[in-house]
Amino acid sequence: MWFQPRQSAGTPRTDVPGTGGGTTSPSSPDLTGAGGAAAGVPTFGGGLTDRDIALIRTSLAVVEPLAADMAVYFYSILFTRYPQVREMFPPGMDAQRGRLLRALLHIVDLVDDPEGLQHFCAHLGRDHRKFGTENAHYDAVGACLLAALERFAGPAWNAEVAQAWTRAYTAVAQTMTQAADEDARTRPARWHARIVHRQAFSDSIAAITVQPDTPYEYAAGQYVSMETPWWPREWRYYSPANAPRPDGTITFHVRAVPAGWVSNALVRRSNVGDVIRLGPPLGDMVLDPASGRDILCVAGGTGLAPIRALVEESARSGHERQMDVFIGARTANELYGLDEMLRFSQRNHWLRVRAAVSDEDILGLSGSLPQVLQEFGPWYRHDAYLSGPASMVTATADTLTRTGVPRSRIRHDPLDVPVLSPN
Ligand SMILES: Cc1cc2nc3c(=O)[nH]c(=O)nc-3n(C[C@H](O)[C@H](O)[C@H](O)COP(=O)(O)OP(=O)(O)OC[C@H]3O[C@@H](n4cnc5c(N)ncnc54)[C@H](O)[C@@H]3O)c2cc1C
Ligand code: HEM
Repeated sequence: MWFQPRQSAGTPRTDVPGTGGGTTSPSSPDLTGAGGAAAGVPTFGGGLTDRDIALIRTSLAVVEPLAADMAVYFYSILFTRYPQVREMFPPGMDAQRGRLLRALLHIVDLVDDPEGLQHFCAHLGRDHRKFGTENAHYDAVGACLLAALERFAGPAWNAEVAQAWTRAYTAVAQTMTQAADEDARTRPARWHARIVHRQAFSDSIAAITVQPDTPYEYAAGQYVSMETPWWPREWRYYSPANAPRPDGTITFHVRAVPAGWVSNALVRRSNVGDVIRLGPPLGDMVLDPASGRDILCVAGGTGLAPIRALVEESARSGHERQMDVFIGARTANELYGLDEMLRFSQRNHWLRVRAAVSDEDILGLSGSLPQVLQEFGPWYRHDAYLSGPASMVTATADTLTRTGVPRSRIRHDPLDVPVLSPN
């Protein structure tokens, strides 16, 4: 059985702003449920049976190998029927195309985990506010999604399958819109933030400090989605490198990746005075105030940013749990931010900072972070925070678990599209 969304959301509207009434195509399933077998708004709890779930899973398995073509078809009918939503999406849609089906697969995977499903859909709904998504858009997306499924499922599609999908989509959309509505009562959909300072650490890494136009609440260790004026609608994630400051400014460490659109613009094109946009803060790589355990932090590259924020937060909170910070990079040149962290450790007896370089022979520690970690420790009594490239985080997490650190005590940001990542 799926979760029961609150009834107060009411029946989804079929009028999409700017569509002149915005009806769904005649061949599309009726998302209101009014014309279907089960009249009224279906709910997960009341409307979705085990058979519905089986039908959804079977039809999804049929379309899965055709995912790429189905996504192209879905977006082309969405943008043709509802041209006003096109401007919410990036000009190039390659990455987004894959995410749609992954989101659906994720939802179906969570079908037996009502709490996880509720959490995922609510989070997705809140995060969609930054795109400018309105409740009425959900009917447009639902109608086109079902039309695409119908076309690609072929003989596996029939009225019963359509009803099951309609009920499931309606419940997901209700949960997303309810969460978005609740979120809208307390905070903006997105924040404008002016760049007030820039500092180049190296050719490819810069610290960029912004001043949000309205208060931006986040916890040290979280990350933030950002849209720049140079690449509109291309949202990327960056981690504040500081604990919240009294003046509200936030500093990001950005590394320009080869051929990277947003990172290169931020590192090489941005200036004081430019205005970027921030989405809501995300992530749970934050200090656990209930834990008295010592802390191990492992940072690769600009993964130092959230670790630096955690160190500041630790100092600010006065907890003073012993903190061991390992900073790694491939070359000494890429090892930015070390001097400041060392100075910080000289002023704070609870902080120990070590740096390692993997691809160069230098004085001091050499080797990859997982290798170097094994020379110290043991870490099985620590809370561990890992941040940096996915390969480094995965290898470090594996090393730590092999040496006795429980998985539940290892925190790191998602390695992929955050909303679709299990952690
Ligand atoms: C939770 C989270 C937190 C993050 N925090 C930070 C942060 O604090 N600082 C920071 O600089 N970045 C951070 N990132 C990465 C950031 O979100 C972008 O992915 C990165 O800046 C590249 O974006 P882009 O638009 O420049 O590249 P895109 O235009 O998206 O990609 C261009 C090309 O570069 C490749 N590419 C993408 N990322 C990398 C990479 N890291 N190394 C090498 N090649 C790459 C792509 O595969 C593609 O071929 C974080 C990512 C996540 C998921
Ligand atoms: C059940 C309904 C929906 C699901 C499951 C869904 C799922 C997703 C997912 C997983 C992402 C990627 C998020 C990320 O990269 O962090 C996304 C992005 C996006 N979604 Fe939705 N979405 C839904 C409804 C909608 C609606 C109704 C709109 C409005 C028209 C919309 C507009 C967007 C936009 C503009 C993006 C960003 C595109 C990009 O960055 O490439 N979505 N959606």
